[in-house]
Amino acid sequence: MEAVIVLLPGDGIGPDVTACAKQVLQTVADKYDHRFTFREELTGGAAIDACGDPLPSATVDSCESSDAVLLGAVGGPRWSDPNATVRPEQGLLKLRSVLGVYANLRPVKIYDELAGASPLKPEILEGVDLLVVRELTGGIYFGEKTRDANSASDLCVYHTHEIERIVRVAARLAQGRRKKLCSVDKANVLETSRLWRDTTNHVMAAEFADIEVETLLVDAAAMHLLSRPSDFDVIVTENMFGDILTDEASMLAGSMGMLPSASLGDSTRGLYEPIHGSAPDIAGRGIANPCGAIASAALLLRHSLGLEQEATAIETAISKAIADGARTADIAARGDSRISTTEMTDAIIRGLN
Ligand code: IPM
Ligand code: MG
Repeated sequence: MEAVIVLLPGDGIGPDVTACAKQVLQTVADKYDHRFTFREELTGGAAIDACGDPLPSATVDSCESSDAVLLGAVGGPRWSDPNATVRPEQGLLKLRSVLGVYANLRPVKIYDELAGASPLKPEILEGVDLLVVRELTGGIYFGEKTRDANSASDLCVYHTHEIERIVRVAARLAQGRRKKLCSVDKANVLETSRLWRDTTNHVMAAEFADIEVETLLVDAAAMHLLSRPSDFDVIVTENMFGDILTDEASMLAGSMGMLPSASLGDSTRGLYEPIHGSAPDIAGRGIANPCGAIASAALLLRHSLGLEQEATAIETAISKAIADGARTADIAARGDSRISTTEMTDAIIRGLN
């Protein structure tokens, strides 16, 4: 098949890991006889430096005319002056919004060999396989903001249709898994959460009688994620709770560097990114873990291009590299030899051939 893939390397380790994911995609194209055209565009701090705008219109146009977008990471100390009016993160949020990718899928997969990399006891990690479905284009991230000398506000708004559509995405995904859905809110305090809970219960009762539904308050969910993570199948939650809970959940996998994400809307065009940030402290040192970006490329093949076999091949190659002992610094145990970003990529590519 032919496909246009936009690459948005962004900042920090973003360019390092995006290059690895591109190399893996090219290997897949060669092996399975596809033609992928890669277009590299500016976003984040790199775009601020180049043209003063974290999401230039040329980048938007390129993404909108592509089949899928793969992003590295945005942000860094150079652009994080709290009083700055232009910030790299604005580019990412605007991109999510203009692409209409309201459903952010963050699967948390545990590699048995990495159990030692997690701060949790191995017996708690046994059987963990969960998927967080985070609402991505609404809530407090996108509400009106105000600031004066002595006060500030961020408005959190949710509309019924935004909740319905994300709950449907999550419930359909649960149907293909263990048929359990946990909806996370803060309905004891927030009005938006009470709407979230009512709407979720309504959609689930009316359309998904086959799914077992659990509701948790976000504070309790944060605790249960650590005390009984293997009980969870699909978790659905609003934008900011999903942001926080997925950083927490990443520790089950040992490192944020392992985890991918897919952001989807109503079309097949999606935005794919590792869940880690720009890690400016290790940028350009060649030691970043490319697995999250490469696993994001696998999700891109699955969800935007419908290439299930190729996606599975990449995921199997990552598992094999890990099983064979390939370890970047973030997932190395004491005494393990640590390999570089490119060596990890080569190990994964060997598993594809
Ligand atoms: C994420 C990140 C972003 C978010 C930042 C960079 C704006 O933390 O993708 O989880 O908060 O959504
Ligand atoms: Mg985050």
